[in-house]
Amino acid sequence: MEQLNPVKKKKMIVDLPGGRQVVFEIAENIEDLITDLSDEDKVPCWADIWPAAHGLAHYLWEKEAIGPGKRIMELGAGMGLPGIVCALKGAEVTLSDFNPTALEMASENARQNGIKVRLLQEDWRSFHCREEFDFILASDILYDPKLNLFLGQIFSQSTHPGGTVLVAHPHRKATREFIEDSAVYGLREVKRELREIELTGTLLPRYEIVIHALQPAGQQKDRDFSPGKSASV
Ligand SMILES: C[S@@+](CC[C@H](N)C(=O)[O-])C[C@H]1O[C@@H](n2cnc3c(N)ncnc32)[C@H](O)[C@@H]1O
Repeated sequence: MEQLNPVKKKKMIVDLPGGRQVVFEIAENIEDLITDLSDEDKVPCWADIWPAAHGLAHYLWEKEAIGPGKRIMELGAGMGLPGIVCALKGAEVTLSDFNPTALEMASENARQNGIKVRLLQEDWRSFHCREEFDFILASDILYDPKLNLFLGQIFSQSTHPGGTVLVAHPHRKATREFIEDSAVYGLREVKRELREIELTGTLLPRYEIVIHALQPAGQQKDRDFSPGKSASV
């Protein structure tokens, strides 16, 4: 996918629990990047850090056993905040998105914070990567039921046995429905946590972010979840 407009950037300081700060560059004005609102693939939602990404980043920084030796993939990474936080903790991180400009900016954000990440340009609808990861990060990407089917399949095939998918969202209906149906993808919810996030310069000053941890329910590899196929668990 081509992103034709050059991106004017602005600096953003992200505060993590415990006083650690991460410096990011994001788009100065997302509206400048809109070329065709009738095409959902061209909506530049990659160019900001969404509240869910802040919530997930806080959670990852404080809670999960993430560090050297762990392989992590962030899907629909956009600016890549949660993945970059994992890389700061020493994990081996792959940032994936279908938008090349998002990946370029995320990579530069990683570099500015003194770490390296691997980039993977992939579309969920034709996902080729067949690697397995200890953690898959999904910050505010389960918003479109048409796409959720593909994401469910990627979660299932890309999670290492014993691995975890972390889904973060600001109480989105489409995400809630995905979690309720996660058994269809061979996953089960093992943990749920709420995070209050305060952000300045956003639509609302405070967001409640839900973080779900999903794990493979059993040996569910190589199953076909494509439309029309039933997938009983
Ligand atoms: C709502 S944004 C969330 C960005 C980031 N995860 C965050 O929370 O700040 C959705 C992200 O998914 C990516 N995306 C949307 N459709 C996609 C697709 N079909 N394949 C791969 N990435 C996609 C967008 O480029 C964007 O970065």
